[in-house]
Amino acid sequence: MSRLAAYIVTAPGLEQVTAAEMARLDLKVVDLGVGGLTASITWSQLMLAHLHLRTATRILIRIGRFEASGFGDLQAGLKEIPFHEWLPKRCALNISVSASASRLNHTGAIEERVRAVVRRSYDPAYEYEGGVHTLHVRMSRNICTVSIDATGDPLYQRGWRTESGPAPIRETLAAALLQWSGASTHKGVLTDPCCGAGTIMIEAAQMARRMPAGRNRSFAFENWMPVDPAQWSKLLAASDADVRGPLKKKYVARDLKGDMIAKAQANAERAGVLDDIVFEVGDATKLFNGPTGGAGLAVVTNPPYGERLSAANQRALYLELGKAERLAVVAPTSSLPSFKREFDDTLATSNGGLAVQFARVAFSG
Ligand SMILES: C[S@@+](CC[C@H](N)C(=O)[O-])C[C@H]1O[C@@H](n2cnc3c(N)ncnc32)[C@H](O)[C@@H]1O
Repeated sequence: MSRLAAYIVTAPGLEQVTAAEMARLDLKVVDLGVGGLTASITWSQLMLAHLHLRTATRILIRIGRFEASGFGDLQAGLKEIPFHEWLPKRCALNISVSASASRLNHTGAIEERVRAVVRRSYDPAYEYEGGVHTLHVRMSRNICTVSIDATGDPLYQRGWRTESGPAPIRETLAAALLQWSGASTHKGVLTDPCCGAGTIMIEAAQMARRMPAGRNRSFAFENWMPVDPAQWSKLLAASDADVRGPLKKKYVARDLKGDMIAKAQANAERAGVLDDIVFEVGDATKLFNGPTGGAGLAVVTNPPYGERLSAANQRALYLELGKAERLAVVAPTSSLPSFKREFDDTLATSNGGLAVQFARVAFSG
């Protein structure tokens, strides 16, 4: 069985979370780096990873590695790579080059050599039947590594969140918070009182029902030459057959704004979990006075912060959220004390470039 050298990109800080998720899918991690993991996987595992991994950003497959101290070496090394065995003839090709601590450091000149060997172009005005693909060429200490992006649009673009508010959490991060905190295996009801586009509860409901994360979208690898479409269809059918029925205990997604609730509902419908979540308009500063409030609440949330809220309102909101029996939050580090809660654990990561912290208490994560 031929194996692929995979590099699984994840948000910095989430490496262990992604490694744990990969272990649950029987994907063997070879090495853990910063912002990524290397793994040796089969073709069917590449498909499985794209369908089910929730916390990873993308997957690259290494197709060549050689030493190159000059353009002659570069060209010779590139010619050894069977690009035509990977990429369809009529495809568009992006080439992303990075260079550090190497004699060859002119990225434009490197790209030119690569394009001359691969003989694929990219005109955004043209519709390529073989899809759009990206080659990553990395020169580091005179070693050239050539990888091909298997994913296409990043994995946090699940396909169902076409409506959102001003500060949505990435789907991959929402999934990571649920997995890292232990909320994803919590037997009872989960509540997000500041749900925005509904991302956290939608991810939670999909996980509880074993719905594949990648079912609402396509991937770059589907157009690769060695991919067997029948194998992919078989995997999709098997994953669909594994989906559990609707949740008996519905999750709760609430927001102060009615228009956000409407967007969250539309997203949940596209994600196939509309019936698994109760959507309500409500003020989270009154969480424990509300009709479904009270002790015993398991809250997973990404509350508003910064310019969107006055400092006093933020403190009042966080204080109320801090009263939940079980709590998993993502928020800036500086605002964690406002919850007035002793957290069991925290984890530093970033949400689309913004430094944030996960914090959890009383879940069995
Ligand atoms: C950071 S956003 C949440 C984003 C969400 N995780 C998503 O993916 O779209 C914070 C949300 O809290 C809501 N919000 C602000 N104050 C609130 C309050 N007092 N009670 C309930 N929701 C509130 C905002 O309307 C906004 O949708």
